[in-house]
Amino acid sequence: MKRTVTKAIFPVAGMGTRFLPATKSVPKEIMTLVDRPLIQYAIDEARAAGIKEFIFVTSRGKSALEDYFDDAPVLEQELRRKKKTELLEVLRKTTMESGQIAYIRQHRAKGLGHAVACARRMIHDEPFAVILPDDVIAADKPCLAQMVEAYAETGGSMVAAMEVAPDRASSYGILDVENNEGQALKVRGMVEKPESGTAPSNLAVIGRYILSPRVMKHLTGLGAGAGGEIQLTDAIAREVDGDGVYGFRFEGQRYDCGSKAGFLQATVAFGLARPDLRDELSEFLSALSLSSK
Ligand code: G1P
Repeated sequence: MKRTVTKAIFPVAGMGTRFLPATKSVPKEIMTLVDRPLIQYAIDEARAAGIKEFIFVTSRGKSALEDYFDDAPVLEQELRRKKKTELLEVLRKTTMESGQIAYIRQHRAKGLGHAVACARRMIHDEPFAVILPDDVIAADKPCLAQMVEAYAETGGSMVAAMEVAPDRASSYGILDVENNEGQALKVRGMVEKPESGTAPSNLAVIGRYILSPRVMKHLTGLGAGAGGEIQLTDAIAREVDGDGVYGFRFEGQRYDCGSKAGFLQATVAFGLARPDLRDELSEFLSALSLSSK
């Protein structure tokens, strides 16, 4: 089995109800962290890991996403005329070549596993990545690139993993590992959103995956799992006794941009990391914390 990963699936069909009313007309993935849409962070991370084909699983109301990756000739012309070369460069980095990108519609919201399975005809006998854009990870070496390197050694299937507070375990896919030491941990079981008090550990799956094409086969015909949805975790779990599953403890800070608090934290952290914003923002934050004492 070849171990180079060149395709990534981005499940972006969710309605983003937690961000209503904003998501009434703006797809959640277009919401901005500082000045870039969430999806741009995911694309940049995929590119840095060597991904060449980008597959978006979308749904009704997501056309703003397709427009975002399109050429913007009028805007470019205007920036050229005004000699705004830096902005022109920023804009160009958002355009995707037509042959690199594919959109597939998930017609009904039947879960993450179902969304990934919608892309099955685009995945042949090769490993593929899945990136959940809600999970934004700030790291010196982008998370998926770290995983691609580790995967070249392990093969099988690999999921990003991190410890969460025990009372949060029921919001995640949870890993049961053979030996909780090192960076790539051999998984012996995994369970999606375990009921409180039943989690085998507090090692949670985070939204980065490198999967064997066998997982796609397991997804076909898989019944509903936790929450009545077709779960990606359940299909990956079948590989525990197949080609093997590894949990990868990545280096970096993960932000849950699927929640309002997480989105705000990421906004502050990414703002503070920007040289052009750092001073003004930190001054504001310290004044704010002084005045709230
Ligand atoms: C999904 C996965 C879950 C994983 C989580 C990470 O859940 O099903 O296994 O732990 O992403 O963010 P969701 O957050 O879509 O409910």
